Amino acid sequence: MTDTPLNVPVDKIPRHVAIIMDGNGRWANQRGLPRLAGHKAGTENLRRVIRATVEFGVKYLTIYAFSTENWGRPPEEVHGLLGILQDVIDRELNELNQEGVQLRHIGRLERLSPSLQARVLKAIDLTRNNDRLILNIAWNYGGRDEIVCAIQKIIKDGIAPDDVTDSLVGKYMFTAGAPDPDLVIRTSGELRVSNFLIWQTAYSEWYVTPTFWPDFDREEYRRALEAFAQRDRRYGKVSSELEGSNA
Ligand code: FPP
Repeated sequence: MTDTPLNVPVDKIPRHVAIIMDGNGRWANQRGLPRLAGHKAGTENLRRVIRATVEFGVKYLTIYAFSTENWGRPPEEVHGLLGILQDVIDRELNELNQEGVQLRHIGRLERLSPSLQARVLKAIDLTRNNDRLILNIAWNYGGRDEIVCAIQKIIKDGIAPDDVTDSLVGKYMFTAGAPDPDLVIRTSGELRVSNFLIWQTAYSEWYVTPTFWPDFDREEYRRALEAFAQRDRRYGKVSSELEGSNA
């Protein structure tokens, strides 16, 4: 069966999609499998979603892979997730590089082992000139932690209070230089932000689906983008259709 083409005009394709890949644990539980099997299936799905992101012409993809709060999970799950990060870099880096994917990391690397930190930095360096897709991996990432980190740096840089503007703060975020997400996708149906990109998503559109992350396929991704293209983004103003009318 051939894939249904994406039916969205180019100017309605989001530049930046951010994803909360939730539901791996429940996906595994439903199958009587350990939680880590869900994370492995989720990682395979991520590969497919990256491919579809390139196909759909989305330029920036940010994925929430490990939060600052995830350290509180059982040690074997934390260990397993760190192992997945290492495996992805070891096994997928060359292919991602050949496909023109630029890897970036958002969050703090400090808590990773020196060898894993070195792998992440090597991956960032190897892919730094790629421009087909910018893939931000949020690992040991927390939105509040990011804001605290930005405030600390702003103070250390001796910035005067009157010079602290919206655009300056953006430059101190881990995502500096990237456009804010246009669309945030959250799988598994939870209606919460979970400390993800709380600064950058001020005006993002949301698409929440009950589908567990390992099952979120190209077809549903296409539907999410088509739903996004129908949204009227007003940024706190009035609709462009209403502007100038007395309605
Ligand atoms: C949320 O599901 C998922 C995570 C906390 C981990 C997501 C990580 C991956 C898919 C691996 C990605 C790997 C790389 C290297 C980018 P959950 O465990 O909270 O699910 P549940 O709510 O059903 O328990």
